[in-house]
Amino acid sequence: MRTDIAVRIGGLEMKNPVTVASGTFGYGPEYAGLVDLNRLGAITVKGISPQPVQGNPTPRIAEVPCGMINAIGLQNPGVEAFCRDYIPFLRNYDLPVIVNIWGRTVEDYIEVAQRFESEPDVDALEINVSCPNIKEGSKAFGTQIDSFKRVVEAVRSASKKTIIPKLAPHVPSIVDYAQAALDCGADAISMINTIPAMAIDLSNRTPLLGNITGGLSGPAIHPVAVKLVWEAASAVDLPIIAMGGISSTEDALDFIVAGATAVAVGTENFANPAVTVEIVEGIQKYLDANGMTKIDELIGSLKI
Ligand SMILES: Cc1cc2nc3c(=O)[nH]c(=O)nc-3n(C[C@H](O)[C@H](O)[C@H](O)COP(=O)(O)O)c2cc1C
Repeated sequence: MRTDIAVRIGGLEMKNPVTVASGTFGYGPEYAGLVDLNRLGAITVKGISPQPVQGNPTPRIAEVPCGMINAIGLQNPGVEAFCRDYIPFLRNYDLPVIVNIWGRTVEDYIEVAQRFESEPDVDALEINVSCPNIKEGSKAFGTQIDSFKRVVEAVRSASKKTIIPKLAPHVPSIVDYAQAALDCGADAISMINTIPAMAIDLSNRTPLLGNITGGLSGPAIHPVAVKLVWEAASAVDLPIIAMGGISSTEDALDFIVAGATAVAVGTENFANPAVTVEIVEGIQKYLDANGMTKIDELIGSLKI
């Protein structure tokens, strides 16, 4: 008999523990010709804000050893265009839809969260807090615990859907943020977002990115993410969707053994669009070979 690999994240029932990381898979149609979306445990779409956003000046991406630095600037069509143009497409698939939301003020988050209340085909809101809080000095919501709590509480009050704050890695204590998410009514957390980074073009001594700085993702950040997931999972009783440098089944299994309930594949989608399906199959094979009846036997099974 094959191992049952279905998992539950708040109200989301995922047929397997694998989703995609926001911003690396578009809104679905971009990848639908390359991978069977129905094989995913859930789809997580790129960040949506109340109004359309143009994003940062180019270049927006720099390749670095073992990863990439991006400064896309959260380009998106805005919540109305997303609902009109993409939800009818996503409705055709048999998988939960996680929408990543963001704003520059707490009111922005409330506005987007409220708009999705009338969209039954959206199952969960992943809250991107790695964006500037324009009312409080343009520091990111996700690296200041009080603004982090305000955003999570506000989205909780505005939405009955599963809510999943996405933690930034560069905070003094990840456990404080995971605990704050739980205290403010989150159903789960996802982690990690990119790590602030910069790259220089020595031929003319200019930054490689139009925005000067960006966020590092890809294999380079995987061990950092594993450590943070393990710390959060050990301390706080919330399901975790783990991401950061997954490019193989083994990377996904690391996260699950460290305590994650589900995983999300990001940067690797650009190199291998079918990687998610390969990882679903790889996880299934590993669990079957180890004679487990349910994936729960693997979650947080790290021996110390
Ligand atoms: C090009 C690009 C765009 C991204 N856009 C978003 C976004 O819109 N919202 C968000 O929360 N995270 C965004 N991220 C962060 C990823 O979702 C993920 O947390 C991070 O890249 C780590 O996973 P990875 O190493 O597998 O890529 C983006 C990452 C990349 C590379």
